Amino acid sequence: MINYLATQNYYMPIIAPSLLSADFLDLQRDCDMINNSEADWFHLDVMDGRFVPNISFGPMLVEFFRKSTQKICDVHLMIEEPGNFAEAFKNAGADNLTVHIEACPHLHRNIQQIKSLGMKAGVAVNPHTSVEQLKDILADIDLVCMMSVNPGFGGQKFIPYTIEKIKTLRRMIDERSLNVLIEIDGGVTLDNAASIIAAGADVLVAGNTVFKSSDPAKTISQLKNIA
Ligand code: DX5
Ligand code: ZN
Repeated sequence: MINYLATQNYYMPIIAPSLLSADFLDLQRDCDMINNSEADWFHLDVMDGRFVPNISFGPMLVEFFRKSTQKICDVHLMIEEPGNFAEAFKNAGADNLTVHIEACPHLHRNIQQIKSLGMKAGVAVNPHTSVEQLKDILADIDLVCMMSVNPGFGGQKFIPYTIEKIKTLRRMIDERSLNVLIEIDGGVTLDNAASIIAAGADVLVAGNTVFKSSDPAKTISQLKNIA
C-alpha cells in the first residue's frame, strides 16, 4: 500500500525559539509558553563581548533553562576559545553545543571534544563565511547553524543571499547522504520562513518574531506549519 503521508512533499521544520528575546524578568512564563507550544528546542545564545559585540549569559542561566524544560537545549556559543567552556555547558545540561568556525582555529578538536562529552556538535558560520569551508568537517558534525544576520543581537534583518547558501549546503549534505541539520539563525519571520524551508533548511531559530508577537505560541505554531 502506498503511504501517501510519506510520499507527499510536506516537511515540518524544527522550531527553536531564541530566549535572547524573552522577558528576563518573567522567564518562567516564557519557558512555560515554549513548553506548552509546538516548539521543539530552546535556542540559547551565549555571547562573550569579544567574538561578538554583546554579552548575554553563560552556563549558570543554561542550567536554569535546563531545569525548566524537557525540550532540547540548543546552545549557540558566540565566544572565543569555546573549548574552555564545553564541559561547563555539558554540566549545565546542553544537548547541542554549537561553536563558530571563525572562532576555532582547531575546529576538529573542538568538535571531538563536544562529541566525547556526549553532546551533539554544531558549527556556526557567519554571513560572510562560505559554506564550502564546511566540506571537510561536515561528516563529523550534527548541525550547521547558518547565520542569516551578523551575530550579536536579536531583531536584525534577514540577509537575502543566505537563501543561496542554504541551497548549496543542502546539496553538499544530500550528495553524501549525511545526517546534518541545517539551522537558520537570524531575522526569520512568518514572511520568509517558507522560502527558507524550501531552500532546504531543517531548523528555524526565531527570537523577535516569536517574543514580540501578540500571541507567541500561535506564532510558533504558524512557523511550524508554514510549508
Ligand atoms: C543572534 C542570535 C540569534 C538571535 C535571533 O546573534 O544568534 O539566535 O537571537 O534573533 P532574531 O530571530 O530576533 O533575529
Ligand atoms: Zn543563535
